[in-house]
Amino acid sequence: MTDESLDESRPTTGRDTSRRTAAVIPAAGRGIRLGPGAPKALRALSGTPMLIHAVRAMADSRAVSLVVVVAPADEATAVKNLLDEHALPERTDFVVVPGGETRQESVRLGLDALPAGITTVLVHDAARPLVPVDTVDAVIEAVRDGAPAVVPALPLTDTVKQVEPRAKGEPEPVVATPERALLRAVQTPQGFDRATLVRAHETFAAGGEGAAPGEGATDCAGMVEQLGVQVVVVPGHEEAFKVTRPLDLVLAEAVLARRRANDVF
Ligand code: CTP
Ligand code: MG
Repeated sequence: MTDESLDESRPTTGRDTSRRTAAVIPAAGRGIRLGPGAPKALRALSGTPMLIHAVRAMADSRAVSLVVVVAPADEATAVKNLLDEHALPERTDFVVVPGGETRQESVRLGLDALPAGITTVLVHDAARPLVPVDTVDAVIEAVRDGAPAVVPALPLTDTVKQVEPRAKGEPEPVVATPERALLRAVQTPQGFDRATLVRAHETFAAGGEGAAPGEGATDCAGMVEQLGVQVVVVPGHEEAFKVTRPLDLVLAEAVLARRRANDVF
């Protein structure tokens, strides 16, 4: 696969060039697990807000013509200003919309902002600022090749146990040990045929019939699975990890330092 094969401005043969791709970036979370401070997406990594890294990671793909950022509800103007302040590719359009109470709601608000003509949608966590462009392109490619829902994922390193939850600190009885070789840890960007993802959100609208309780769906592909639509996994990347806890910030800074060192040579 080459960058050119996904370049929307370049005519190609044998593939559907009428497909246009947008990325929706849910960035409206507080980042409770990261500890006190600004909303997670606005915290700096190597001096640049995490969100800007994530926006660049999407815009770096030549196939992505539009990026919709779903900002914390009270920070939409600040986020617009941030996008204006940072150098971003000219060929990409940017839109900022205020987010909702859950990730699911934020993604839906992002989908509502998509113009006509977009047929492929990526949903990418602002909290995964370092995903390499090759992973982004591989997801888009799989959707364009006909898969309605594509998730990048990696095999697990830890064995996983299903437990019967107990109060914090109390020993929890083990119920099952799924075979590790059959499990994958799912990342983003997840890629979708637009109509399929919109249908999933309409079917499982927060509060409506079929809605996930409490938090809403933390994974768009899970909602598409519930529609009975086939979801496929493509290889993820270790640098697409989610910044969730303080130690993840240390890892993210180290990845950026390694990239800078490699750029010098
Ligand atoms: N997100 C969102 N709107 C929400 C909640 C989450 O757009 N109401 C986004 C986050 O900004 C993040 C992504 O969904 O980019 C994945 O969520 P997560 O890693 O859980 O981030 P937070 O919800 O911010 O973190 P925490 O759960 O620790 O509070
Ligand atoms: Mg969360």
